[in-house]
Amino acid sequence: MSDTATLTFGDSNYPINILTGTEGEKALDIRQMRKDSGLITYDDGYGNTGSCESTVTFIDGDKGILRYRGYDISELAQKSNFLEVCLLLLDGELPTARKLSEFEDKISSFQNLPSEVLHAVQSVPPSTHPMGSLASGLHALGGACSHLCTNDRAKDLENFDDAAALIIAALPAIAAATHRQKTKDNLCPPNNSLNYCENFLSMMFAKDGDAPINPSLSKALDLIFLLHADHEQNCSTSTCRMIASGGANPFASLSGAVSALWGPLHGGANMAVINMLNDIHNSGDDGSKFIQSAKDGKSRLMGFGHRVYRNYDPRAKILKSACDEALAALGLNSPILDIASRLEEVALQDPYFIDRKLYPNVDFYSGIILQALGFPTNMFTVLFAMGRAPGWLAHWKEIAQTGKRIHRPRQIYQGSNLRQYIALEDR
Ligand code: CMC
Repeated sequence: MSDTATLTFGDSNYPINILTGTEGEKALDIRQMRKDSGLITYDDGYGNTGSCESTVTFIDGDKGILRYRGYDISELAQKSNFLEVCLLLLDGELPTARKLSEFEDKISSFQNLPSEVLHAVQSVPPSTHPMGSLASGLHALGGACSHLCTNDRAKDLENFDDAAALIIAALPAIAAATHRQKTKDNLCPPNNSLNYCENFLSMMFAKDGDAPINPSLSKALDLIFLLHADHEQNCSTSTCRMIASGGANPFASLSGAVSALWGPLHGGANMAVINMLNDIHNSGDDGSKFIQSAKDGKSRLMGFGHRVYRNYDPRAKILKSACDEALAALGLNSPILDIASRLEEVALQDPYFIDRKLYPNVDFYSGIILQALGFPTNMFTVLFAMGRAPGWLAHWKEIAQTGKRIHRPRQIYQGSNLRQYIALEDR
């Protein structure tokens, strides 16, 4: 097959090179197209646009495949853990035992946040959404560790390993401080004898004399983090890369990514799913009325559909069984899990969802587990952000190492042509 396509416009033909990825996907390399033909491309929502070459994550949405650095997500979910996956994403390789243990030690040593960062997180107006507090906390963290946060790309790259470990270590403490601001409870300091997720659960929920953390619950949380760790060029990761392309430091880039994740069509969907399931439950509907209103375009079945997956999201499959296990470990019966299972069963047999290839995504079951673990709904998207942090960082590093140009899309202007200014009194 030719490795060139041809664009015909007017009387001219323009050759366009074909770029082939390591898994065989092909793309028109249009970098010369505007210079040669005067044309740009138009792709609202970037559904057909490759914004970069990347070595971090591979997704085949038709087959439901997700791989971090070449490793299949289901194998990682079975055999690995979140901190090991952090290193895999950040360094490109699975760590040796020594490297992993050094990383774990570094994370432990960074868990005590500078007091001014905790103060900054707890000084936002109490009605601030936890995602807003998280974004503020990241800026404060960068400010408190300004030697890691210089906006001098060479220096920020040199210090990247420390900045990445600091951010991954700090997020649980920032999240817990955010939560405790809302509940008006005193902070619980980190405990270095606990692993990453146990420590987070303890900082979130421990009260004096609390029972030790149930290991199956911290394992479920670790799995949620691992499954969220990267997902190639989604809205928040593209935002992180966009900010990084301007030369901004990792703290600023991640803070922007947190804001991009917040919305209900992206990371906020895990909150929206629980709200939807509770509304269905409280209204006495078994899900059928809701499915009908989604088909009529009056509502969206949150946790369903994906821009890239036109098949079952592999993360949702893993989370579905993790959900059953977590509820069994807690001895809980969840009426909203029954509703979710019913919605899935009905939707997967309905031509509306079949024709549009709408399947459950990662958010469909994650919220049920998080609720069972005791997290309030407004913290769900914060947990998504904590899981996604190593992915954002890996993409920040990729841009810092390989990105040569600032990201700056073009547009098709459809506004007014040149007009004369009208004085205020004449309008
Ligand atoms: N419920 C009902 N209809 C839907 C849904 C849904 N959840 N998702 C898509 N559709 C319909 C949509 O109305 C459209 O129908 P038509 O062709 O008749 O106009 C068709 O399916 C294509 O949808 P789209 O909005 O063009 O698809 P998109 O690729 O732009 O959006 C999405 C992807 C994830 C934003 C969307 O499926 C959605 O809003 N899902 C619910 C929110 C959600 O669960 N988000 C989490 C995504 S996974 C985690 C993450 O990466 O953030």
